Amino acid sequence: MNADLVVVGSGLFGLTIAERAATELGLKVALLDRRSHIGGNAYSKKEEQTGIEVHQYGAHLFHTSNERVWEYVNRFTDFTNYVHKVYTNHNGVVYPMPINLGTINQFFNVAYSPAEAKALIQEQAGELAGTDPQNLNDKGIQLIGRPLYEAFIKHYTAKQWQTDPADLPASIISRLPVRYNYDNRYFNDKYEGLPVDGYAAWLERMAAHENIEVHLNTDFFEDGHEYSRSNVIGQVPVIYTGPVDRYFDFAEGDLSWRTIDLEQEVLPIEDFQGCAVMNYPDADQPYTRIHEFRHFHPERDYTKDATVIMREFSRFAEKGDEPYYPVNTSVDREKLLAYRDLAKGEDKVLFGGRLGTYKYLDMHMAIGAALSMFDNKIKPHFENGQKLE
Ligand code: FDA
Repeated sequence: MNADLVVVGSGLFGLTIAERAATELGLKVALLDRRSHIGGNAYSKKEEQTGIEVHQYGAHLFHTSNERVWEYVNRFTDFTNYVHKVYTNHNGVVYPMPINLGTINQFFNVAYSPAEAKALIQEQAGELAGTDPQNLNDKGIQLIGRPLYEAFIKHYTAKQWQTDPADLPASIISRLPVRYNYDNRYFNDKYEGLPVDGYAAWLERMAAHENIEVHLNTDFFEDGHEYSRSNVIGQVPVIYTGPVDRYFDFAEGDLSWRTIDLEQEVLPIEDFQGCAVMNYPDADQPYTRIHEFRHFHPERDYTKDATVIMREFSRFAEKGDEPYYPVNTSVDREKLLAYRDLAKGEDKVLFGGRLGTYKYLDMHMAIGAALSMFDNKIKPHFENGQKLE
């Protein structure tokens, strides 16, 4: 076998591990992915007719306050100065998101100061003051009051979860941010932007080291190739970033996920909605939001003859669907604990990434977690023989 380390999955977690192991330790790395491209869910490519860059697995905005991660990603790409902003179309009127003083003043048709707006929301939230809400609907009302909750959160959440919020646990939300100023930047992080040459160029540069051998269209669990599970387990250290339940042949049952369906359309107009993301929080549209990809790169000289939009629909994942967001019920958490116990018993295999840990991770979190795993486990193993666990 020609590899010192096998990395299963070429998403940002696997790529970071592979790049560090090759560059810092000089290891030969076999990087496998069952898809036909590297980069996992962060991957993007140009839509053929228009040349507009489209994020293939839902919109991906890079943001972080982690200095180490920011320094690391800047080794592979520069970032544009794109600042993410989201709008929402409720009853045919467009409001800025997240809920801020602009949203409140427009919604109630007033010109309140921050203090006046705060007093109003506190009064409205007081409807359920002193109670201990058990479902998401009551919790939402208690956090921001009924009018704003019912306009912007209730049906949006129902569409995301295919469930009436009155039947969802309150624990899904701990807070609903309301800003009592006109700041409608979506993220609060210190650094934010999109890779100047696109995600694919960034991700390919991470894998470009001569010690990294990329094997696409290669499923770890399928025999017939050098790095299949049956060939490598126990032989070479493995970093596994696929679904943890799949690794153990679903022995403790399936972990549940939500997925999204993305409906892409090219329209023969320059600009469809004037912004990158428009939410649809009402019950009468089946989709949750529409992305218009030209707005992620206003600095690019895109065609004025056409634009690309993508409608996003949310639903529970079934077998064969892409797992996107962990549902994380109490039953899932029990199964996860059982899988973690099984994982501890695996010799020379580490589990990482969003699928391997059953956790929603933003890109900067996946990269940060991979850098920590490299420092704390992989490097000490190869340099000092520390047990890989
Ligand atoms: P990721 O899923 O990217 O990669 C895992 C890889 O493993 C996949 O390529 C898969 O094919 C491969 N694999 C699985 N099983 C295998 C097997 N048996 N054999 C071989 N290969 C196998 N983050 C952010 O910072 N800003 C954002 O705006 C967004 N937006 C966003 C939208 C949506 C809809 C989702 C679902 C997620 C986001 N994210 C995000 C999160 C982002 O996608 C996430 O941080 C990264 O995908 C995490 O990278 P991983 O490497 O952990 O997983």
